[in-house]
Amino acid sequence: MRTCLLAAALVIASTGTGLAQDAAAGQAVFKRLCFPCHDAGPGAKVKLGPPLNGLDGRQAGTIPGFNYSEANKTSGIKWSDATFPEYIKNPMQRMPGTRMAFAGVRDEKDIANLWAYLKQFDDSGNTK
Ligand code: HEC
Repeated sequence: MRTCLLAAALVIASTGTGLAQDAAAGQAVFKRLCFPCHDAGPGAKVKLGPPLNGLDGRQAGTIPGFNYSEANKTSGIKWSDATFPEYIKNPMQRMPGTRMAFAGVRDEKDIANLWAYLKQFDDSGNTK
């Protein structure tokens, strides 16, 4: 019984908020800041920007069916735990000439949550 309670407490601790990345919170950030121009998840469509599926490990500018700028296509960025946060802080500085007219996300926690939300989608928008 004692071990059982301990195990339960550990589960609560590891899923609690704190600094942990939280895909649900990331979805809220996505809806607020990105959704006007991007779709993500199953059946995601091209909007003003490309659907953001299968981003983790993908070379920038390679989502099928979207007409990217040269800047995005030739940026040499591969989306990852390292490059996404750096880019989204200030897209127009990180990728000069991008057509993504967006000032960036300042809050580190919003960025971590946003990436936790986006990286869960495979190419067809299903969660991995
Ligand atoms: C005003 C519209 C707009 C908003 C708001 C916006 N984007 Fe974009 N985004 C674009 C466009 C347009 C592109 C394509 C840029 C290009 O081709 O130069 C793009 C490209 C991207 C790319 C590169 C994709 C690839 O395949 O290389 C990522 C990643 C991205 N956006 C993430 C986000 C996230 C995350 C948010 C919210 C925090 C966001 N964007 C908000 C319009 C927007």
